[in-house]
Order: sequence, then structure tokens, then C-alpha cells
Amino acid sequence: MTAFSVRLTGTKYGCGGGGCGACTVMISTYEPTSKKIRHYSANACLLPICSLYGAAVTTVEGVGSTKTRIHPVQERLAKCHGSQCGFCSPGMVMSIYTLLRNNPEPTSEQMIAALAGKYCHFLICRCVLKPFSSGTLCLCVCALYKGVGLSKVYSGQISTRLFSTDEFQPLDPTQELIFPPELMRMAENQPKRTLVFCGERMTWISPVSLDELLDLKAAHPKAPLVVGNTSVGPEMKFRGVFHPIVIAPARILDLNVVTHMDDGLTLGAACSLSLVKDILTNAISEFPEEKTKVFCAVLQQLRTLGGEQIRNVSLGGNIISRKSTSDLNPVLAASNCVLNLASKGRKRQIPLSDIFADGVGNNTITSEEILVSVHIPHSRKGEYVSAFRQAPRRENALPITNAGMRVLFEDGTDIIKDLSIFYGGAISTTICAKQTCWTLIGRHWNEQMLDEACRLLLQEIALPGSASGEKVDYKKTLIVSFFYRFFLEVLQSLKKMDPCHYPGVPMEYRSVLQDFQTKMPQSIQIYQANPSQSPQDPVGRPIMHQSGIMHATGEAVYVDDLPSVDGELFLAVVTSSRAHAKIVSIDTSEALQGPGVFDIITAHDVPATNEFYYSDDPEIIFARNKVICVGQIVCAVVADSDVHAKQAAAKVKIEYEVLEPVILTIEEAIKHNSFFEPKRKLEQGNVDQAFETVDNIIEGEIHIGGQEHFYMETQSVLAVPKGEDKEMDVYVSTQHPAIIQEMVAASLGVPANRIMCHVKRVGGAFGGKLLKTGLLASVAAVAANKTSRAVRLILSRGDDMLITGGRHPFIGKYKVGFMNDGRIRAVDTKYYINAGCTPDESILVAEVSLLKMDNAYKIPNLRCWACACKTNLPSNAAFRGFGFPQSALVTETWITGVADKTGLSPEKIREINMYKENAQTHFKQKLDPQNLIRCWNECMEKSAYYSRKTAVIEFNKQNYWKKKGIAIVPMKFPFGLGTRYLSQAAALVHIYTDGSVLLTHGGIEMGQGIHTKMIQVASRELNIPMSRIHFCETSTRTVPNACASVGSAGTDVNGMAVKDACQTLLKRLQPIINKNPKGTWNDWIKEAFEQSVSLSATGYFRGYDENMDWEKGEGQPFTYFLYGAACSEVEINCLTGDHKNLRTDIVMDIGCSINPAVDIGQIEGAFVQGIGLYTMEELKYSPEGVLCTRGPDQYKIPAVCDIPEQFSVSLLSSSQNPYAIYASKGIGEAGLFLGCSVFFALRDAVTSVRNERGLKNTFSLNSPLTAEQIRASCADDFTEMVIGIGERCLSVFG
Ligand SMILES: Cc1cc2nc3c(=O)[nH]c(=O)nc-3n(C[C@H](O)[C@H](O)[C@H](O)COP(=O)(O)OP(=O)(O)OC[C@H]3O[C@@H](n4cnc5c(N)ncnc54)[C@H](O)[C@@H]3O)c2cc1C
Ligand code: FES
Repeated sequence: MTAFSVRLTGTKYGCGGGGCGACTVMISTYEPTSKKIRHYSANACLLPICSLYGAAVTTVEGVGSTKTRIHPVQERLAKCHGSQCGFCSPGMVMSIYTLLRNNPEPTSEQMIAALAGKYCHFLICRCVLKPFSSGTLCLCVCALYKGVGLSKVYSGQISTRLFSTDEFQPLDPTQELIFPPELMRMAENQPKRTLVFCGERMTWISPVSLDELLDLKAAHPKAPLVVGNTSVGPEMKFRGVFHPIVIAPARILDLNVVTHMDDGLTLGAACSLSLVKDILTNAISEFPEEKTKVFCAVLQQLRTLGGEQIRNVSLGGNIISRKSTSDLNPVLAASNCVLNLASKGRKRQIPLSDIFADGVGNNTITSEEILVSVHIPHSRKGEYVSAFRQAPRRENALPITNAGMRVLFEDGTDIIKDLSIFYGGAISTTICAKQTCWTLIGRHWNEQMLDEACRLLLQEIALPGSASGEKVDYKKTLIVSFFYRFFLEVLQSLKKMDPCHYPGVPMEYRSVLQDFQTKMPQSIQIYQANPSQSPQDPVGRPIMHQSGIMHATGEAVYVDDLPSVDGELFLAVVTSSRAHAKIVSIDTSEALQGPGVFDIITAHDVPATNEFYYSDDPEIIFARNKVICVGQIVCAVVADSDVHAKQAAAKVKIEYEVLEPVILTIEEAIKHNSFFEPKRKLEQGNVDQAFETVDNIIEGEIHIGGQEHFYMETQSVLAVPKGEDKEMDVYVSTQHPAIIQEMVAASLGVPANRIMCHVKRVGGAFGGKLLKTGLLASVAAVAANKTSRAVRLILSRGDDMLITGGRHPFIGKYKVGFMNDGRIRAVDTKYYINAGCTPDESILVAEVSLLKMDNAYKIPNLRCWACACKTNLPSNAAFRGFGFPQSALVTETWITGVADKTGLSPEKIREINMYKENAQTHFKQKLDPQNLIRCWNECMEKSAYYSRKTAVIEFNKQNYWKKKGIAIVPMKFPFGLGTRYLSQAAALVHIYTDGSVLLTHGGIEMGQGIHTKMIQVASRELNIPMSRIHFCETSTRTVPNACASVGSAGTDVNGMAVKDACQTLLKRLQPIINKNPKGTWNDWIKEAFEQSVSLSATGYFRGYDENMDWEKGEGQPFTYFLYGAACSEVEINCLTGDHKNLRTDIVMDIGCSINPAVDIGQIEGAFVQGIGLYTMEELKYSPEGVLCTRGPDQYKIPAVCDIPEQFSVSLLSSSQNPYAIYASKGIGEAGLFLGCSVFFALRDAVTSVRNERGLKNTFSLNSPLTAEQIRASCADDFTEMVIGIGERCLSVFG
């Protein structure tokens, strides 16, 4: 569906593959026989428009708008501070709205399920989940429907209220769109007839009877049957599969049957997975437990399969597409489910297990056959069925491995009569452990059987070691671990059946029988209110994001929402498929013949600069003679539509000659001595001498993976030539309009004054929209210049991830000398960062990693080095935290290493070595750590650290396969950009004669609420309500040479400039005000105009006096320090490596917050992004340097299930900051590092496992600490068996 063409731009395009939920819409259908209307959520990016005949589609625009009336869901999302960049807000609204249309009083489980299909959230834009995560929105929504009130907690000056429910409007039922009566009449009166839609290349046929379908299938055996299109769609979009004919069977009655039979349930193949879920849930409550074992196992998988939108697609599609990642096939096959198949003149039934009999998912089903329905049998007496899955993320993620298992015992015994085991995810199809099952028939369900079963399974399920050896050992471990879990479950069930004969599972092993459940997170936010403040003054108050309502209604405009310009062309880039190669030839002939193709743009079309030298090595627009990474832009196609441009881009043929060496990793760069210069070093004290005098020395290293920015709005540019004087308007999603202007002007060879850059808002950036955006904007501008037409470039998610790089992968090597009492005396560290193929800001990142590496610790003798490795990966870039999240993780790693060695706790080592009094950093900058200590102590207290640690130890004693871990980590986050000119800022304020104020400044709104805060500043300074002040856009036309919005500095520096401009204006107005003190604002403005007083002023801030001398290793690169501490508690499942974030308490010193709602949102969002960095986000490259993780399917960022169940953020009270506006502190980045408290809590849990098992005390963990790594670190008989050293018999109970 293309909302763009009908100017309904609220529905966003985040990934195109059903993975992010930004495009969620509500589909409503009417069933004339039951007279019921069904509403369900769907991903518009995959939903074929032809499938919507007779259906009503509601987009966010239909829910509510500022032009009519906003809907309570939209209002609550905005007012509960549920949006940051706002790009995913419409998708959020649609998910919740659809849920409420179906369930006016949803349970929290339903809430969680509805949100599981949303990516951004992240909160993502790492942000928006807050109101959901905190439960507040849910509570508000429930309050709306149930009349429940929200608690408001005030305690003195400390406030936990971020919004007022009194403002919420009640639901007006007349506001809900009704199902269109004409569609109802159509469904009732018009007999169903075959529908045929013919497109440019494809024909869509939707028959109404089974016979007709079978005829069609006989005539077009290769045509797929499309229901949800979630399997066929991605193949067509991303893998170039083409189907000229598509058959849509969803309207055929036989494929929608639900029949209860004596021996089970028969479900039509077109039934949605959600419907199956409901039917099974009902059946479980109706039938005796004995009969519902299969139903329970299938339901278990359905709970976490995809998100709600994915569960609204078909059962048949999941089964027949036979993906190895199907969560249903293993359990359905193991449970003896039967497929009812039909083809022209033939009907037959086959057990689903037959399809997988030969282990390759063969073609037992012919291409003329269709699946009519699936029979799911009742379980029998003595039969037990279970299903398991482990995925990179607990919800909405395809499984790494899953399983379905069933055992039937001889009557009244534990002798195996029948056994069935199927695995998914392990190889290219669902696979049956046939031999193992046959061998075990007749055995007792005991330890010997378990031992033999595991060995047989590992022999039978041979996993091919893929090129990168990917997860093979982990998958094998899961194969046996799942069986062990099944063994325990059955053992416990046997006990239930006959407690005298079967002892069941000992208490300490039972907790592993429970999977982690996602609960609606509970959160609390605490900040300091100022009761004596004037009620008109908005500074310090939790003001809603200026665009909050527009985000929630979908009215907020992003680059791709801009209406098309007359004659506009679309651009698609052609990128290198080689990591290091000479370009031998580029053949564009076939591409140029493509429909709608206008031109192809190469380096030869760049009028002036194609290579930008910000350091010794260039940043390149188009590769000219050689390519230096996969994903480098070689040329670009411009065409009359996005589709035509992409089709033609795929036809450009580039011939390469591979060059040596191809360097991908840090290790390879070190081997080839491939670095960007300069290398940096800092040193204090006498390190070598100190190593001579210490009691102990540890050495080690940690590898930290990169991170994808995953901003929700991909890189977007619209370049519009103005037709005269070489002027060009560039609408661009960037954090740095001035650099875009500079690069575009340089590439076109025109003065900067001809290029106007406009930024209304950015749908997330996190550091990824700086230089890279400049190159992309130049691509679009060169194309616009050559064609004299407007050119739109919107990167697809896959291209964005491939081309733009992300956070630098990092290796930290350390040597640490310390005394037995825990005092660290000497540290020598080396950091290597993988910069990729061009420098970008890598040297700066390396420098910052050194400057911030001490984190919260005073180390008397310290030496640290940093090198930026030049490799053939896409160039890495700035990313929230800028080197600190990596170098401080290395620091915290050696801190825990010292704890391991001394036998003291990590928190003791942290306390012993923490800055305690006025001190100097390792580059001789002074700091006062008072607030660091306060944050630490408050966090200790608020988290009840010691009592919870005792409880964790107790839990771990009582549970063998589940362990908890807890960790508390302090943080010092220096604020500053290193030099004065980078923090200068300007503002421009106009007052119009009606008294309204137009404010602009150089900062970019990318979700961090900067415009809201600037309006708060102007409101205080001018002493007028915020409603009188408007912010329109950031533009190089109004504020020239603005610095980038980076380094948490936007509010600090632009706030000063806004204040300056407002004070200038107020100074001019003062005589008029003094003359008429009782007058109104409008009176004064009118008078000022009549007296010819200028009502427009610029404001300026020169920047902070910061400097750093790298030769001497000394300086004042920072202006002030933020402090914080976080305590996190987790629980791990030692059998699978899965974990759950139980609780996090954060205390953060951010001075006097200008807007606590915005700032707390930043802390929470950054923290969750940190959880992603340290525990789950994994970038994978092929040995040839191709990024494999190019979308939400393969790259997992945190979702609702990853938010700590209890999440509390407190802002440190009574903290002042003399250096920044209104004593605030810049907070955008700092919270991210605190995500490592989860990393160390996981480490604590793993340590507990290893201690219990007598494994060696010191071990190293890398980041991200994924389930795979956790499982491997919790070594046991199963992991030993997998790596072939487990000769002894399995000991069932440890
Ligand atoms: C983002 C995302 C997340 C996902 N997560 C999961 C997950 O966690 N676990 C999981 O198991 N799956 C997951 N899936 C896969 C999803 O469940 C399947 O794609 C879906 O069930 C297929 O149903 P559909 O109606 O969309 O099939 P379609 O794409 O419409 O069709 C799929 C195939 O089935 C065939 N087919 C469909 N119906 C019939 C029929 N009646 N007779 C014969 N052939 C038929 C078609 O010819 C076609 O080849 C995910 C998919 C996406 C996009
Ligand atoms: S754009 Fe449709 S799910 Fe991401």
C-alpha cells in the first residue's frame, strides 16, 4: 500500500519487511453470516493492496487529528511523554488503538503482545516505549476505559509526576470511525465473485470456491498462494523472486473452517495465527488437561511468534513455506498433526511429519496441491508434548533453534511407547531425530535414557559447520538442552501421575521448567520540583514534547513526507559488492533501458569536489577507480519512481579486479600495520615502576562489537534546484545542516550561499547523520544538478545499514597492577578501534575513549593508547557516547578482574578506587567528585543493594539451572567538545506585531526535545507563555555555520544563544515596559513597533573554553562532569543462555533539569540502547566483508521484553552547574554506558554458575554478552558433550 500517493503520510516506512511495525494500520472486515466486524493490525509494507477488497483500512489519520479531534490514545501517548523522535509513534498508536477496538479493557498481557511487534520503540527511537514501559500509558488507557485513576505522588520537593491525568479528555464514542455501511451492504448483498487485478507485471487472482482455486492451481502450479504475504513478500522485495501470477485464497470458506472433532481440532489453512491462538486458549479451558497437551505446546510457541501483526497472517503460510525457522512445524510435526491437502480431482491427508521425513523439507506436497486445513489432535493418556525456542530476543525474533517433542508411555509406566522429536532453526529445514526416537522406544524415562538420547541426538542432527562456524556449538547445545528440559518436564508430570513410583524433579531444578514471561514494566521517575517557582515559568517542568501531538497523529513531517515537487525524480544507489577492488568497468546499458529511467550518475558527473579531505584520507562521494568497502557508492540511478530506480540499479553491472590485502578485522589491521594517524597516548605517574611494587598483576582483553544506529527514519534527502543562480534547497535528515551545505556546495562548485539546508525534524540520528549524510546529500545534489530536476533519495533500511557504518568495534587490552587490599596502583591499556575504510571522526572517537577511560576511578599510574584501524569495512562514525561506552566497559572489566583475583566484591573494588575528593584526571583536569559519591550512595540505598545481593545469593543456592546476578556501576561522564569553536551557537528571534514569537537556533530536533526546551528558555526570558512561541525549522538560511547537534551539547549551547537573543529583545522593550508596567505583552509590542524598535534579534554563544594538548597529554577538554550510578539485577536460564532484566535503579546527576520529562526520557532511552549494545546487538559480516545483518529480522535491538521489569530513574537533587544554562547539564549520551550494569549483572550470574560448578574463577566475556555467550560460559555436561569432551555419563541433577 502506498499512503504517500494519497498524501496520508502518518504511516511510516521503517524497514519494509514486517519487522519494525512503523507502518502498522488497522484492517477491518465484516463477516455477513456472523454479522461480526473483525479488526486486526497489519504491517502495511507487506500487505498487498489487492487483498483489501471489501475491507476498511484505518491509518493514524483516521484515528484522530488536530484538525478534528485527537483520539485519547494519541493524547495519552503525547502527554505521557511517549514520543521522542516521533517516527514510530503512529505505529504505536495504531497497535494500541486496534487492541482497544477489540478489547476495550485489555489485560497487561494483551498490551505487551500488542507492543511486541514494534521496533522503534526503542524506545527506541529508543524512546517511545517509556510510557508503555512504565506502564503509565497502559494505565492511562485502562483508566480511560475503566475509570481508574492514576496515583500522584508528591513528597516535599521531590516529584514523581511527569504528567497530569486531569488534562486527559474522556473517550467520545462518536469519534470512533464506524465500519463503512457501504462495505457492509456490499458484503451482505453482493455474491462473492472472483476478483482479478492486473498490474504492470503481475496478476492477482482471488477465487471464491475451492474448485476454482484448484483449477487455478492446476493451470498455474508455480503461482504462490498469498494470504499474509509475510513469506512471499520479503522474498519478492529483498531476494528478487518474481511471480507473474499470485493467487489469494483467503476468501474461500473451506480454508477458514474451524471444526471441533472428537479427536481434535481442524483449522482452515487461511486462519490467522491470532485466531488459532484464541481457539486454542478456549479449547484449553474447555477440555480436560489430558487432552490439551498438544494445544498447550502450540500455544506456547504462538505467544512469542512474531509480533501481533505477524500473528495476523496465516497458519497455512507458516506451515507450507517450510522455513527452518517456523516455530509451528516442529511442534505440529511432533504432535502427529495431519494436513488436509487438495488438488484438482484429488484430496488426501498426510501427517505433517512426512514433509520433513528426509531431512530436507522435500516436496511431498506437489505444486498443484494446496493445503485446505490442518488437524491438530487431542493428546492421549500417558502422552506428553512440549515446545521450546531460543531466539536472539525473547519476543518478535526468529528462533536460533526450536523444538517440538512428544512422548507416549506404555499404559501406567514410564516405558517409552512412541517418541517424536523435531528441531527447527538448526539447519535449512525442520528436521526429525528419527533414529534417536526409534532407538529409545522401550526404554525407561531415566538418566541412562537421557544420556543415550543426548549422544544420539548430537550424532543424528549433524549441523554443517557454516563458513563462519556460526552458532554451531550453541545450536548443538540447545538441541541437547531442550531435550534435557523435556526430560525434566516429563519427569515432573510422571510424578503427578504416580507420586509413589516417580520422584519427580528436585526442588532446585524446578525453576527451569518456567519460561521467562514479559510483564508490563513498572517504573518510577523522581525529580526535584521547585514549589516556589512562578506558575508561568515553564523551566524545570515536565513539559510535553513540542511535537508530541503531531507525532501521535502522524502530522509531523519528515523528509519523505514532503509533497512531491513537479518533475521530481527518485534516486537509487549502486554500491560495491567487493571490499577492496579495482573498478574495471561499469556497464549501465541495460539499466538505462529500464522503464522510467532518466539518467545514471557517476563520479564523472560531480562538477567539483568528489573527495573531501578532513584529514589525510578522503571521504568519497562516488568511488572512481577503486572501491574500499562493500557498500561504497559507485553510481546512482535516477528514475521517475522509487521502484523503477531500484529495478534499474540492480541492472548496473560492475566488473572488479580484487586487490590485496582485504582487511576486515582489527587483528588483520594490526598484522598489516593499517592505521589512520595520529595514534594517541595519555600517561600519568610512573607506570613501569608501579608494576614493580604491586602485589598482583592481571592481564586480559575484551572485544566489543559495533552497533548499528538504527534510527527509525533512514537517511533521507530531497534536493530541489531553484532554477536560477545555481540555488538549491536541500531538505535533509541531518544533525548538521552546515556541513551538508558545505559539502553540497563544494561538490557542485558553488558558494555556500546558494545552498539552503532545511531540517524540520529528524527521525532519530544518534550520531549517524553527520558526514555520511553529507555524502548522500551530495549524491542527490549532483543528480539534481545534472538533471535540473528535484531528486529524492531515501535509503532503504538494508542499504542504510550496509552503507553508513555505526559504532566502532573495539578491542581493549589491559595490564593492571593492584594490592591485595584492592587498591589499583598501575594500569596500562591499549585500545584498537575498527574505523572502517575512511577516517570520518574515528581519531576523535579514539581520543575521547582515552580521555574518558578512567570512568569514576583515580588510578595513580596510568598509561593508555588508542589507534584507529583502517580496514575495508564501511566507515564507522560518531555514535551516542563516542568511544566512552567502549573504553569504560574495558575499565569496568578490569575492575571485575581485580575483584575476582582479590576475592573482594566488584562494588568494594569500585569504592576503593573511586575518585573521593577534589582530584585531577589523567590529563590534569580538575574535578570535584562529590556528586559521584552521592549518586553511588543513593543508588546503593534506593536499590537496597546489599539486602538484594543477599537475596540473590540465597536464590542461587536454591536454583541450579536459573541464577540471578546483581551489579552496581558508577559513572563519571565528562561534558565537552574539546575546543571552543565546536560549541559556539546562534539563535534568531523575531517578534511579530501580533505578539507571537518565531524562534530559531542552530540545534536539530532529533527526538531529544531541544526545541521544546528552547521554547521553555525563551518563555522564561521573555516572560510570555510557551504557546506564544513557535519553532518552525532549523535552516542554514536563518542561522549560518551552526555547529552539529552532538555530544549532548545542543541544549547547553543553543540555550545560551536563545537566552542572549531574548535578553537583547527584552532590553530593547524595557523602556516601554517601564513606562507602562501594567500593559500587556501585545501593548508593549505594538508600542515598540510604533517607536521603530527592532523586534528581531540574534543571540550568540561563543562556546566553552576547552582545549587539549595531545603532545603534552594535558588540557581542559571538558567543561563539567555528569555523574551517575546504576544497579541492575538479572536472572539467567543456564540451559539456554536466555536472560531477563529484573530491575534497574538509576541515580543521575544532571544539574537542574530544564525539562525532567524529556531528560528522564533521554536517560531511559540511552540506557536501553546501552542494554542493546552490551547484551544483544550483533553485527555479522561474511568473510568477504558483506554486512549480513541488514534489517530488523537479523539485527535485534531491545524491545518491550528487554526493559527491566522494575525501572526507576531518580535525578540527583540539589545539584547545580554554574557552567550551563539554568544550572542544567547535557544529558543525551551519558545514560547509555549505564546499560553495562546489565552486562555486569549477567557476569555476576555466570560467575555464580561457574563457582557452583567448580570452574575456574577467571573467565572473559565479550560484548555483546548474548545468550550464546552466556550459555557457553555456563559450561556443563551438555556443553562438554557438544565439544566432544563429555565422556562421562550425564549427571541429571548436576
Ligand atoms: C517480521 C517477521 C517475523 C516473523 N517471526 C516469526 C517467528 O517468530 N516464528 C515463526 O514461526 N515465523 C515467523 N515469521 C514467519 C511468518 O509466521 C510466516 O511468514 C507466516 O506465517 C506466513 O503466512 P502468510 O500468510 O504471510 O504466508 P504467505 O507469504 O502469504 O505465503 C507463504 C507461502 O505459503 C504458501 N501457502 C500459503 N497458504 C497456502 C495454502 N493454503 N496451501 C498451499 N500453500 C500455501 C504460499 O504459496 C507461499 O509459498 C515471521 C515473519 C516476519 C515477516
Ligand atoms: S516498515 Fe513495515 S514493518 Fe517496518
